[in-house]
Amino acid sequence: MSEPVIPGAPAGVRLRPHLGDLAVYAPGASSGVPEGVPIVKLSSNEGAEGPTPAALAALAAEAPELNRYPDSGALHAALAAAHGLTADMVAASPGADMSIAYLASAFLGPGDDVVFAWPAFVSYALTAQKQQANAIMVPLKDDTHDLDAMLAAITPETSMVYVCNPNNPTGTYVTRDQLRAFVDALPEHVVCVVDEAYAGYVLEDDFPNAIEEYVKAGHPRVAVLRSFSKIYGLAGLRIGWLAAPAWIIDASIRVRGPFDVSSMATAAAIASLGDHAEIERRGQENAVRRESLRAKLAAVGVATTGVANFLTVTVEDGQATTAALMQRGVIVRPLNGFGSPNQVRITIGSDADMAQTEPILVDVLSR
Ligand SMILES: Cc1ncc(COP(=O)(O)O)c(C=O)c1O
Repeated sequence: MSEPVIPGAPAGVRLRPHLGDLAVYAPGASSGVPEGVPIVKLSSNEGAEGPTPAALAALAAEAPELNRYPDSGALHAALAAAHGLTADMVAASPGADMSIAYLASAFLGPGDDVVFAWPAFVSYALTAQKQQANAIMVPLKDDTHDLDAMLAAITPETSMVYVCNPNNPTGTYVTRDQLRAFVDALPEHVVCVVDEAYAGYVLEDDFPNAIEEYVKAGHPRVAVLRSFSKIYGLAGLRIGWLAAPAWIIDASIRVRGPFDVSSMATAAAIASLGDHAEIERRGQENAVRRESLRAKLAAVGVATTGVANFLTVTVEDGQATTAALMQRGVIVRPLNGFGSPNQVRITIGSDADMAQTEPILVDVLSR
């Protein structure tokens, strides 16, 4: 008798055969530290701070209205106004991750190719697999997108290409000029999705703003992902969004579920958007903490990459290093699941997190 597609599925049921091959997203670890050792979680690139004060107030105000179904219209208007777009050029979703799933549903099917760098964000690979599309994974060069190799990988079957900027997990970025040259060279049948989930943290002058430079400027085939999970501190609420030409937004809306973004998420996102000073402060303070850790590691000969809220380090064995840090209460992310067994990724936490973990990170990583 043949094996069931999913373990435990009763004989005879008609599951789609490819489900058996699908990998399940593995989140960064939250536990595993010996009892009694204080824990700091630096494994999931979450924001170091929670919701903004304005978002917390908006959540409290929204709670009594939860008998109503949500309406994302006000959020779409606010997002559009904040970026000089029209409301038909934005679509909120339950996390940027779900926008990736919508794009995959709209653009990918059996026989289609999607091109992206590797290691990059795993959802590009998982959503392609769900659609039974071909994931064309182009190895990073020096931990950075190899844009020439990505262009060379494009075929008539390529529907989409992702540029993860800055890249998760290596934290490196594609410059404004590099992105421009890449987009200009793309053939007309390819949609370029620029994933800017971490854009709020990047302070480099030559880092592009793809919403401004492509979507607002009217490029017909560039879409941009943003997230409220990181600098806005709303990961637990699940809210992200897509900025794109109206036709791409229309396509993504056709494949989404009804009422996919909750009214709590909508209210918190609108309130967060208005608080520029708070977001600016978070970005600056993250950079100070990140550069402090980078300098301390450099002083003991450990090189790092990253311009967002995480640093990536090359070690002998990522899982062994992660286990050694876990023994001392520091949870980081080994990158074996991203196809990079000799790297670990360290999220930049709060001041208190970093005060506690810096000496441990320096000690373990310098061995
Ligand atoms: C590059 C990148 N894109 C998208 C996401 C998904 O973000 P969200 O929490 O909004 O689904 C993440 C989450 O870690 C990410 O690293």
